[in-house]
Amino acid sequence: MEKQELESYVKAGKIAKEIKEFAKEIIKPNMKLINIAEAIDSKINELGGEPAFPVNLSLNEIAAHYTPAPGDETVAEGILKIDLGVCVDGYIADTAFSVDLTGEGKFKDMIELNEKILSNVTEIVKSGVEVREVGDVAQDTLEEWNEDNDSRFVMIKSLSGHSLAQDTIHAGLTISNYRNDNRNELDGAFAIEPFVTTGVGDIYEGNAGGIYVLQSKEPVRDRDAREVLKFVKEEYKTRPFCLRWLEKEGLGRHQAYPLVSGAKLRYILSMLVKQGILHEYPMLIEKSKAPVSQVENTFVVAEGEVLVTSN
Ligand code: CO
Repeated sequence: MEKQELESYVKAGKIAKEIKEFAKEIIKPNMKLINIAEAIDSKINELGGEPAFPVNLSLNEIAAHYTPAPGDETVAEGILKIDLGVCVDGYIADTAFSVDLTGEGKFKDMIELNEKILSNVTEIVKSGVEVREVGDVAQDTLEEWNEDNDSRFVMIKSLSGHSLAQDTIHAGLTISNYRNDNRNELDGAFAIEPFVTTGVGDIYEGNAGGIYVLQSKEPVRDRDAREVLKFVKEEYKTRPFCLRWLEKEGLGRHQAYPLVSGAKLRYILSMLVKQGILHEYPMLIEKSKAPVSQVENTFVVAEGEVLVTSN
């Protein structure tokens, strides 16, 4: 890995770690998700990074892929997963944590186990370690915990860690959190993210959750839609984005795009999704609608050394 690339990964990780601390301080029960998201968005910019993707604020049985749009009235309650990405020159730190907002510690054990899984995995991540070794440690930790505590926590097998590359959040390698035969060695930059639940341990795709990504380069006839796409390509490259950012960036106020805001902007996005130009990610929801916990860190292996950049 080039020195410059490594430095960017480290800087992104440092910012991501600060954002986690910041988020832990500001998040309170019944706070609107939109206020949490906007505070995180601004703080990332203030610290000299860019969001690598819209912060995922997923409640209870929603495992991932929800970000609030302007006007969203949803409030934080139950168990909240905060999955955030920071990038510097396109090099990404992807990290997540879970908070119990019940006031009675209803999800304390699940989160503690989830954190233990990630910390046990972190201990064995070194140069040359194989993907399957992560799965072994993750599953062993979960099974041991269940035995010791007479509990029935389950890993969500359909959600995995992944390698990272410039402006690319899922760069090819899948890092499963259960026993598997994948002998690929962990190298470069990657994220490890176990998800634990009290449900069946699988997910289904629900409604769209407000996170968009460019999907097709086909030409678009509508002039305003073309302006929106141009802006998205310039600002976010191949990275995911959301309505909140387009509103904030002042597409409606920007001289070049005087017509595109509010309802019009929402309409354009939905039209582009229908045409297949944009993809809007569906929410990933636990199959039995049981609560889900998540923790995640980004790792960089460079010259035989392992850095946990977001921790
Ligand atoms: Co991730």
